[in-house]
Amino acid sequence: MSTWNRRHLLGMTDLSRKDITDLLDLAGQFAGVLDRPVRSVPTLRGWTVVNLFFEESTRTRISFELAEKRLGADVVNFSASASSVKKGESLRDTARNIEAMKIDAVVIRHKSVGAPYYLTQQIDAAVINAGDGMHEHPTQALLDLMTIRHHFDRIEGLRIAIIGDILHSRVARSDLWGMTTMGADVVMCGPPTLLPKHTETFPGTWTTDINEALDGADVVYALRIQRERQESGLFPSIREYTQTYGITTDRMKLAKPHAVVMHPGPVNRGWELSDDVVDAENSLILRQVTHGVAVRMAVLYLTAGRDPGSIQIGKHTE
Ligand code: CP
Repeated sequence: MSTWNRRHLLGMTDLSRKDITDLLDLAGQFAGVLDRPVRSVPTLRGWTVVNLFFEESTRTRISFELAEKRLGADVVNFSASASSVKKGESLRDTARNIEAMKIDAVVIRHKSVGAPYYLTQQIDAAVINAGDGMHEHPTQALLDLMTIRHHFDRIEGLRIAIIGDILHSRVARSDLWGMTTMGADVVMCGPPTLLPKHTETFPGTWTTDINEALDGADVVYALRIQRERQESGLFPSIREYTQTYGITTDRMKLAKPHAVVMHPGPVNRGWELSDDVVDAENSLILRQVTHGVAVRMAVLYLTAGRDPGSIQIGKHTE
């Protein structure tokens, strides 16, 4: 059931199957724009967005900025490390001061779970979650779904194996909700110490056995090993992790012959994925990044209150 009011985008758990389908259809139209020589459709002219990043980012920050610019919005980039946050200013005061300058939307990445929701209680601007702690990364899940649907022409019935540090991964959480909502058969796999407690309360199938996870998979989705976690003793060594859970060409033979490889980035080459798997023909990793711009255009367009029925832009063919 949809609990999405299109005013903010906080997480995949708010979205119904129809919401996701509508977003992917709209993103497909924007992808058509991005395939043209003139890659812009200035429907958000006069709308002002602040990209409020309290954590590092390459793909998400740049693709939001590109999406905003392709739509003709005014864009301001905020980096916590170069701001008065360094002098102790709180998230609430930072956001309220920025809003006092008359803005329409905030895209926020923050280390704290729930920071985007908290902002919706403090400011009137639209809020889009670009990753909050270990909680959600909804636009990553949407671009992943777009990539899968574009490649297979469907999502329902596909077997998707998500492998790695699931405990700390906001990508894994958002993907799990989004993929199961769309009818995929999702299997979650990682070392016991990197799985959440009470996996029975989540959708999907859960296992610590990599062979079981890869068996018959259409999509092999590897998560980034978060080096910072190793220090907390959750797995003995990168080498041991790679031997047990690293995806290699040999391991990919357990998946279906047509299986594809995905990863949210940044990739630790040679750790969660071998070099040749990252660069193989069946790797969709860069295609995911390409789709990120179109998906974020769709999210911005809807949260700005624009009517998706009012645009007929074109079809994504590439
Ligand atoms: N996938 C992802 O969120 O990448 P960045 O951290 O570079 O934005």
